[in-house]
Amino acid sequence: MKKLIKNGTIVTATDTFEAEILIENGKIVAMGHQLDPVGAEVIDAKGCYIFPGGIDPHTHLEMPFGGTVSKDDFETGTIAAAFGGTTTVIDFCLTNKGEPLKKAINTWHAKSKDKAVIDYSFHLMIAEMNDDVLNELPKVIDEEGITSFKVFMAYKNVFQADDETLFRTLVAAKELGALVMVHAENGDVIDYLTKKALTEGKTDPIYHALTRPPEVEGEATGRAAELTGLAQSQLYVVHVSCAEAVEKITQARNRGFDVWGETCPQYLVLDQSYLEKPNFEGAKYVWSPPLREKWHQDVLWNALKNGQLQTLGSDQCSFDFKGQKELGRGDFTKIPNGGPFIEDRVSVLFSEGVKKGRITINQFVDIMSTRIAKLFGLFPKKGTIAVGADADLVIFDPNVERTISAATHHMAVDYNAFEGLKVTGEPVSVLCRGEFVVRDKQFVGKLGYGKYLKRAKYGQLLKEDVKQTT
Ligand code: URP
Ligand code: ZN
Ligand code: ZN
Repeated sequence: MKKLIKNGTIVTATDTFEAEILIENGKIVAMGHQLDPVGAEVIDAKGCYIFPGGIDPHTHLEMPFGGTVSKDDFETGTIAAAFGGTTTVIDFCLTNKGEPLKKAINTWHAKSKDKAVIDYSFHLMIAEMNDDVLNELPKVIDEEGITSFKVFMAYKNVFQADDETLFRTLVAAKELGALVMVHAENGDVIDYLTKKALTEGKTDPIYHALTRPPEVEGEATGRAAELTGLAQSQLYVVHVSCAEAVEKITQARNRGFDVWGETCPQYLVLDQSYLEKPNFEGAKYVWSPPLREKWHQDVLWNALKNGQLQTLGSDQCSFDFKGQKELGRGDFTKIPNGGPFIEDRVSVLFSEGVKKGRITINQFVDIMSTRIAKLFGLFPKKGTIAVGADADLVIFDPNVERTISAATHHMAVDYNAFEGLKVTGEPVSVLCRGEFVVRDKQFVGKLGYGKYLKRAKYGQLLKEDVKQTT
């Protein structure tokens, strides 16, 4: 059925204007004034903004990690994402050394199919670059539409790849038209520092932060950027947390390197002191890179404002406090790394960013949706409000005041990292391809409605003739 959204203020990455939006067959088919409402359900968005659906480029749903599995899966995770104003997630598909990439991709399809309530896609981890992997990559791009590869420079003996793998991945990505993503921390140095801390009896959660200082992130970021320049390739640095990493990205960009940076809401509003909470509660704030001293927040906000960083991912990788984070009592290295952020990503950026005058409302849309769509081959199908685009829309009340809490969130975990944070603004209704997933703050979506998205190559537009599968 057709839908006509009236009386809202449309906000894109470039413009803010009043117009009606006509939706048919999941697409925006017209925008303008006094559009013909015949045969359409009319939706009143008075007093609300209409944003393109948020795109979360960084999630770990149902991911095996740290001796357990992240709690939110493609069902609870995408429901929570939708409540938060996100209509597409790109999740990290983990691979194992020596196994076909296809096997890992099939595992991720099995996890997500019939569960996701919004659209989704995958990035592919490169654990080790060798001839088998190299031979499989063209198929991964052509058949799966996976056009971004992830290399971990940390988590020694778990995910960490060596510099040869990083460099060969950069070279291959340049040739094939993919974007390389890095978790940039020096895993070897962290390994040394964590072992030393444990032998000195330093076992509390705060030592997670103290053994992964900003310098190890800055060093790895600079190394990855330098290798990108050498390979004349393209790089996206995930979860940038500190001034040292921002500086390396800025230097690389100033040298003309194709380097991009993502930060996350947790680094914008929380700081290292949270890891010192008593009764082991600091474990709730253990993720990597760790939270930093508070002054880094200003650097990150400024970097978003002036374009040194371009996107906001959630790095959703949630674990219960009870039974999961508790695995690390007496040894901080055993605390599963990660936190629950998928639901609050958009609201925190709006409230702390737009409402507090740190970024403009059009920058907000760019950072949480449009730029991500462009970098990851989803634009212009996703990431904007335009005729021909998917009707992925967020009807957002910019004035409602509320307090973030685990008591009201939709994620499956037993705590919220932003507990008690007062925010202004909330998604009222969220549509994915023209269908309500959230309507008047109630979930009305369907499990399995979310479609797997094949993405265009780096720098290319996603054309409609790219065959999408359900
Ligand atoms: O601590 C984190 N960030 N967990 C998820 C995996 C990763 O490094 O992104
Ligand atoms: Zn990471
Ligand atoms: Zn991550």
